[in-house]
Amino acid sequence: MIPQADPKAGYLAHKAEIDAAVAKVLASGWYILGSEVKGFEEEFAKFVGVGHGIGVANGTDALEIALRALGVGPGDKVATVSHTAVATVAAIELVGAEPVLLDVDPERFTMDADELAEVLKREPIKAVIPVHLYGQPAAIDRVVQMCEASRVPVIEDCSQAHGAMLGNRQVGSFGRIACWSLYPTKNLGAFGDGGIVATDDAALAQRVREIREYGWRERYISATTGMNTRLDELHAAMLRVRLRHLPADNARRQAIARIYDSELRNIDKPKLSPGVTHVYHQYVLRHPLREKLRQRMKAMGVGTNVHYPMPVHLQPAYAGRVTLGPKGCKATERVANEVLSLPMFPELTDEQARKVVQAVHSCIQLLH
Ligand SMILES: Cc1ncc(COP(=O)(O)O)c(C=O)c1O
Repeated sequence: MIPQADPKAGYLAHKAEIDAAVAKVLASGWYILGSEVKGFEEEFAKFVGVGHGIGVANGTDALEIALRALGVGPGDKVATVSHTAVATVAAIELVGAEPVLLDVDPERFTMDADELAEVLKREPIKAVIPVHLYGQPAAIDRVVQMCEASRVPVIEDCSQAHGAMLGNRQVGSFGRIACWSLYPTKNLGAFGDGGIVATDDAALAQRVREIREYGWRERYISATTGMNTRLDELHAAMLRVRLRHLPADNARRQAIARIYDSELRNIDKPKLSPGVTHVYHQYVLRHPLREKLRQRMKAMGVGTNVHYPMPVHLQPAYAGRVTLGPKGCKATERVANEVLSLPMFPELTDEQARKVVQAVHSCIQLLH
């Protein structure tokens, strides 16, 4: 069976370095917010091209804390997309704000910037969260330009796009603040939960730091109300190893994507925008008989996944009560019924990628 993702292969590829990093932390006697976290934060911020990184417990907390640090709270509206991990929307409600769920560009599957323009004209929006889905930057230049004109802060959700670029700038360096999940299967994944927030704004970074740990400015004294969402030293030490390999890992994902691209030319896929560097967190196809295709591929030994089968606004916890943008998420609903993610991880071999391609072709033929 060729798995869709394989985080264990990621460990085995760098086992000696990761084991050494773990041993060093265990022997150090310091396990929470120490030199490894500080080192990882600095190295990650430098990698993105911004001044400050703040390690947190997971990507959902990263978004929640970014919203809180920007002063978003009850009564505020925050625009994002419905075609995302539910966490993006959950974070908005965690701070007591109201999500406004926009449709996606039907060709790229990321935020419809025209709809955002409409919404910014119509109602007071306190923040906007574009999601760089599957590893491709959203229309972040347009989104930031519009939001700056309306004085609305942009929080980039980069959880699926570590290292992705538009022009020569990395995602996470366009908005006021940016958030990444470091979940094990992400392009930069921990061996458990983790997340990071980054920003160029020193005062905002300081607020995030305080909220991360009980609102402390000095130990045991809460200057503001906070939470506990610390990153631990073990994860930070392992993430520093993985960050060193991220450019090569992303290059390998791109090489696999080139095999898929050249062999699956006639199959419908999200379009690439000009000037983007896609880092292929997921390689996604589109097919009207997605479920059948998925089952047949499984029978042929090829694992696939669906990101995501049900848009957030149709999920039981949200259906009928979340606000949609003027377009009503029609493109989102179509996309959710048709997307299929192929195996994609740096350790996938060329031979395996070719087997995946053969399976796609023969399964699609059988469907006709
Ligand atoms: C786009 C997006 N946002 C947020 C998250 C939430 O991250 P976490 O699972 O680390 O809380 C994820 C992870 O699945 C994600 O893909």
